[in-house]
Amino acid sequence: MVKNKRCAKEYFEKEFEHEDPFHFFTSGYEQCKYKKEIGLIKNRVIPKRILEIGCAEGAHTKLLAEAFPKAQITAVEISSNAIGRAEKNLDEIKNVKLINADIVDYIENFPNNFFDLIVWSECIYYIGDRLTTCQIFEFLKMIAKKLRSNGLLCMTNMITPYNGDMLSTKTSLSEKPVMECYHLMLSYIMKAIHKSSYSDYKKEEKKSHEYQIWIFKK
Ligand SMILES: C[S@@+](CC[C@H](N)C(=O)[O-])C[C@H]1O[C@@H](n2cnc3c(N)ncnc32)[C@H](O)[C@@H]1O
Repeated sequence: MVKNKRCAKEYFEKEFEHEDPFHFFTSGYEQCKYKKEIGLIKNRVIPKRILEIGCAEGAHTKLLAEAFPKAQITAVEISSNAIGRAEKNLDEIKNVKLINADIVDYIENFPNNFFDLIVWSECIYYIGDRLTTCQIFEFLKMIAKKLRSNGLLCMTNMITPYNGDMLSTKTSLSEKPVMECYHLMLSYIMKAIHKSSYSDYKKEEKKSHEYQIWIFKK
């Protein structure tokens, strides 16, 4: 079923051998991204049930829990190293349930028409890399099924400029044409209601990144 194992569990266990490898808690760039995303959500919905896909150590989850204290948040993460730290980081927060699982296998366990909001940031390109085009399309349809009618899917993703060679082994997972395909597939399944682009400097990596925030309505 799965096309390749790159970016599967073992990959992320290694990435999260050390605490906060992407500086999610401390980077101004990351924190600013989360706040922009939450601001855009708040303008549209006050969710009661939220699913977060790929929560890492809970940096975004924490801000979501603070922004929506009455919501029940379910956060799924493939790496047990990351989820172990998320448990500690979110220790005092009562409205979050953490699940250590691969969302591709786990998604079917959630009831259909259930969540008001799904937050799925900086993660689709890892999952897309493991699946064939048909499989990712089926998976995206499954994600939409889990949203209630008018529910929102909100995503923030890095967009890497196209290097002009799609067949190059150095092609980035989040290269612009690939990301545009994901956007197109999601727009076919749901209604695309927001797309904004940003470019910010990430001090910790000493470079600027382009990223986009997408919102889809079921
Ligand atoms: C780049 S991080 C983004 C973390 C967080 N969403 C954010 O924006 O700060 C990607 C996260 O997705 C997780 N992930 C990747 N594939 C996954 C899968 N199939 N199921 C669940 N989590 C996954 C990784 O372990 C990692 O923690």
